[in-house]
Amino acid sequence: MNLPMVVPDPTLPSRVLVYEVGPRDGLQNEQTVLPVEVKAELVTRLVAAGLKIVEVTSFVHPRWVPQLADAEALLARVDHRGATPMPVLVPNERGLDRALAEGVRHIAIFGSATETFARRNLNRSLEEQFSMFEPTVARARAEGMDVRAYVSMCFGDPWEGRVPVDQVVDVGRRLLELGTYQLSLGDTTGVGTPGHVTALLDAFNAAGVADDRLAMHFHDTYGQALTNTYAALRHGVTTFDASAGGLGGCPYAESATGNLATEDLVWMLDGLGIETGIDLASLVETSRWLAGHLGRPSPSRVVNARPQ
Ligand code: HMG
Ligand code: MG
Repeated sequence: MNLPMVVPDPTLPSRVLVYEVGPRDGLQNEQTVLPVEVKAELVTRLVAAGLKIVEVTSFVHPRWVPQLADAEALLARVDHRGATPMPVLVPNERGLDRALAEGVRHIAIFGSATETFARRNLNRSLEEQFSMFEPTVARARAEGMDVRAYVSMCFGDPWEGRVPVDQVVDVGRRLLELGTYQLSLGDTTGVGTPGHVTALLDAFNAAGVADDRLAMHFHDTYGQALTNTYAALRHGVTTFDASAGGLGGCPYAESATGNLATEDLVWMLDGLGIETGIDLASLVETSRWLAGHLGRPSPSRVVNARPQ
């Protein structure tokens, strides 16, 4: 396939960690529920393509996300105790029990910056989400797990509109203080723009949270995901969430569409000479294979570009 011309920019970070969320965020909103064997092959292919971390599934209530109801069966089929970390979403102690029973080492909690989305996604108020997470993280840390924290609706919320930067920083700091190692700032419905990204990162820095504790999680609803990534990269962030083929979206967030496609991200990073360890050609091949199983074309531009 085509590869971009490499023109490094010495003012940018030399290496980026791509945090792959395709098997989890990518598949949680698809109409087609893939057989567990196909999901396991997806995870294996992503690792073979060079992804250094792959979020594989969720221990949420199976009625809430039926697409991921086979979480235990999937973990039994992938090498989640191996060299490549394979985190799993866990909202509460019930989810943690399930994760511990499978010997999972890496989990992620997922909070909301807004009241409405906390209620819709977690059936908890903004305040109650912390009472759910606090014992979950404490026990997970005591068991030696590492815990990541997502914050959703960092840039806007379909029910509440604009979300004040200070509100996001407040929720984010509290999630970090629980004992999580990293915050992933979610643009759940893809409404953010680059200046807003810079302002949010500045506000976190001013509150004592440096860029190396932060990751960005952009959905591409308004076509801004890659531009927003570039703004965060310029700021100094070096962990970016992305989903193979650009699949994804939260079923409880109105109008959420796909995540930033891993291929589109890697194309840009390759062009900038930024190291990721990912083989773009084999990633594209995987997303084409996955699109065949899902019965619809991948939303990624790079996956669909005609080789020249
Ligand atoms: P709830 O109904 O309030 O749960 O749901 P509950 O604590 O009242 O328990 C009710 C029953 O559910 C009990 O069973 C529990 O045992 C069971 P019963 O005693 O009645 O038989 N239960 C569970 N079963 C299995 N696994 C569990 C679990 N927890 C309770 N973990 C809950 C609360 C949090 C469970 C529910 O709201 C839920 O599952 N929410 C998940 C929603 C979700 O997965 N959303 C998508 C992921 S977030 C996302 O995509 C955003 C992100 O990508 C970032 C971004 O883009 O912004 C991360
Ligand atoms: Mg998401």
